[in-house]
Amino acid sequence: MQTIALLPGDGIGPEIIDEAVKVLRAIEAKYDLKFQFKESLVGGASVDIYGTPLTEDTLALCKDCDAILFGAVGGPKWDGLPKELRPEQAILGLRKSLGLYANLRSVILFNALSAASPIKKEIIGEELDIMIVRELTGGLYFGKPKGIERTHDKTRAFDTMEYTDEEIKRVARIAFEAAQRRQKRLTSVDKANVLETSRLWRTIVTDMAADYPDVKLCHMYVDNCSMQLVLNPGQFDVILTENTFGDILSDEASVLTGSIGMLPSASVGDGKPYLYEPIHGSAPDIAGSGKANPIACILSAAMMLEYSFGAKDAASAIRNAVEKALNEGYRTFDIQVGAKKVISTSEMGDIIVKNL
Ligand code: IPM
Ligand code: MG
Repeated sequence: MQTIALLPGDGIGPEIIDEAVKVLRAIEAKYDLKFQFKESLVGGASVDIYGTPLTEDTLALCKDCDAILFGAVGGPKWDGLPKELRPEQAILGLRKSLGLYANLRSVILFNALSAASPIKKEIIGEELDIMIVRELTGGLYFGKPKGIERTHDKTRAFDTMEYTDEEIKRVARIAFEAAQRRQKRLTSVDKANVLETSRLWRTIVTDMAADYPDVKLCHMYVDNCSMQLVLNPGQFDVILTENTFGDILSDEASVLTGSIGMLPSASVGDGKPYLYEPIHGSAPDIAGSGKANPIACILSAAMMLEYSFGAKDAASAIRNAVEKALNEGYRTFDIQVGAKKVISTSEMGDIIVKNL
């Protein structure tokens, strides 16, 4: 029996989590797997009831589970709150408290969606499969000091970008190992022409390359990388980068696949539980309308089966079922190009279950 913490959160979070659960239940019926779900509030939903985006109870529940499936947090309703109460603190707090220092974001363009990509077919090619490994518990997001100071004549805000050698090494290890399992090409992305943290990053990653002689390592500045992603995305296999750069580059990379609603992710650390979440946000503008794309969340559940439960077959079955739905011309609202039929969030879940 595997226990899974479900944290639907805000906006479209609950709708997409429902579909992922539907798919996991169908997997249970076909594979030798049993799941017990434990649900809890996070983000704005938790602020509304408990006055905080992440309660100690929710954190304890997560620590007790084998894996966590997270929806999305945030929305205009909570935008005016002081920073400790912002819904985003829920996901940042989970990542930090659970030591989830590496975020694997899988950028795959399904053939059926190549027309939905904003990039010309000549550039995007037939296939696109990039793995972005984003550092997740350091850099500007967590560096201290951080704050805002007001005096009578000026206001000063500051964040600190910092990395230790050990923080860089542990996430780089994950990226080198991912490259070894894939096309064996690793692009480490930094801003070493300007930033000290990047110069340390580059030195450490370069030194580590000796331990992975089968992996071809290259370095790229982040501004160039953002350009290369749309100019020649096929050159990338695994991209390794720090927290903020990874946040930005993964949103950019996601649209290559047709929609940000397609990208799953796994956040991993040195021990369980790992956390799985779609990379998109809570999309409050479409919440409750049935327009949300559940595929990123369903593919996140597939990553969970593979990374947390070692169930590679079941994970591939989900990916194949998603691909079949797309090949059959079923689309959610965000990926309408080439659609035979535009369907709702829950209809997409049903079709994927049927295809399993
Ligand atoms: C992401 C999101 C989060 C981040 C937000 C919600 C804090 O944009 O997972 O990419 O910046 O990491
Ligand atoms: Mg982001």
